[in-house]
Amino acid sequence: MTNLDSALRVRGLRGGRVSDSTRAMKSMKKVGILTGGGDCPGLNAVIRAVVTRAEQLGVEVLGIRGGWRGFLEHDTEPLTRARTRGILHEGGTILGTTRVNPFQVKGGPERVEACFKAWHLDGLIAVGGEGTLSLAQKFHERGLAVVGVPKTIDNDLSGTEVTFGFDTALAIATDLIDRLRTTAEAHERVMVVEVMGRHVGWIAVHAGLAGGADVVVVPERPTTLEEITKVVLLRRAEGKTFSIVVIAEGALIQETDAQEAHLVLSNQQPDAFGRPRLGGIGAHVARCIEEATGIESRVTVLGHVQRGGTPTARDRVLAQRFGVKAIELMHAGQSGVMAALQADQIVAVPLAQATKRKAVTEDWLQVADVFCEGPDLSKNPPSGSSG
Ligand code: F6P
Repeated sequence: MTNLDSALRVRGLRGGRVSDSTRAMKSMKKVGILTGGGDCPGLNAVIRAVVTRAEQLGVEVLGIRGGWRGFLEHDTEPLTRARTRGILHEGGTILGTTRVNPFQVKGGPERVEACFKAWHLDGLIAVGGEGTLSLAQKFHERGLAVVGVPKTIDNDLSGTEVTFGFDTALAIATDLIDRLRTTAEAHERVMVVEVMGRHVGWIAVHAGLAGGADVVVVPERPTTLEEITKVVLLRRAEGKTFSIVVIAEGALIQETDAQEAHLVLSNQQPDAFGRPRLGGIGAHVARCIEEATGIESRVTVLGHVQRGGTPTARDRVLAQRFGVKAIELMHAGQSGVMAALQADQIVAVPLAQATKRKAVTEDWLQVADVFCEGPDLSKNPPSGSSG
C-alpha cells in the first residue's frame, strides 16, 4: 500500500466503513443543512464535520442561510470543504440563524417542500434546539427526510446526555462568577448573577457548583424571596461578608407565601415561537434582597456572552461527533431522528423524544444543596431574618 493509499484509508476516503455506508444509500446525492434558534458555540464545528464527511460519502451539501428563513427567501450557499476550512474554533455560525417559523407564514410549509424539490435535496440536517427540532419533526411527519443535531447552551433536550454549547456556556459563566466573587468580597456585597437556560436550571446548577455559589435558584424548584434573604442574613451572622446568588432566567419566584410562584420578565414580547423572552429576574431579586436585608446588592446579567466566542475543546469534539453521525444517519436512509450522546456513544434517538424538555433532576439539586443553602439553615435560622 502506498503512503497516499494508507492516508486516504485513515481519512475514510478509501475502503473500510465508508464504502460499506456508500453501498447503504447510493441514491443520496445532496443534503441541506441549517442552523436555527439562538446560536451557540460549536455550530461551525458541526457544519464543517457534516461537509467533510459528506464529501467523503460523495454527497453535496447546500447551506440554508438564516435557519428556516433561507427556504422562504431562497437564501442558500453551496458548502464545500474549502468553504468550511478554518472555522472549527469559531463561534457563531457561517450560515446565520433566525427563529423564523415557516408554520407561521401563509403557505410556509409548502414553500419549504417546493424548495426541497427545486433544489434536488434528498434530506435536511437541522441543527437546533427545541424550537428548530420541533419544526424538523413536523417536516419529517409531512414526508421530508430530516435528521437533527442537538444544539443549545440550555441543555434542555431529552434523549441526549448533553447538547453541544452547554460546556462552553458553563465555562464562561464559571469564569465570570469567579470574577464577581473578588469584587463582591472587596465591597462586602451580595452579587446576584442571572444566567440563561430558558425554563431549566442546568447552567445555574452547574455554574453554581463550579463557581461556589451560596444560593442557586432554578425553575425546577420555585423559591420564595424569604428563603433567599435568609441565606444571605445567615452568612452575615456567621461573619461571611459577601454572598453569591446564582439565579436562572426562568426561575419561578414566590413574592409572599400567599402568592403563586411566577416568572419575572423585563420584556413582555414573546419570541417567534410564542415563547416568553426571559430575563429580568436578577435585577428584581437583587433589589428585594437589598430592601429586605439592608446589604448592598448588585446584579450581573451574563446574557449573550454565554453564547459567544470560541467553543471549548469538549464542545468542538462533541459537535464534530454529532455532525459526522447526522450525515451518516441521513446517508443510511434514516429520518425523524437526532444524533445524541448516551453513555459516551453517539446514537440515534427519535426527534419526537428529543424535543421533550429535560429538567434538572432532584439528585443534581441535592448536590447543590450540600454546598449552597447550608444544611443547618432550617435548624439555625438567623436572628433578624427579614421574612
Ligand atoms: O435557548 C438559548 C437561549 O440563549 C436561552 O438561554 C435564552 O433564553 C434565549 O436563547 C435568548 O434568546 P435571544 O437570542 O432571542 O435573546
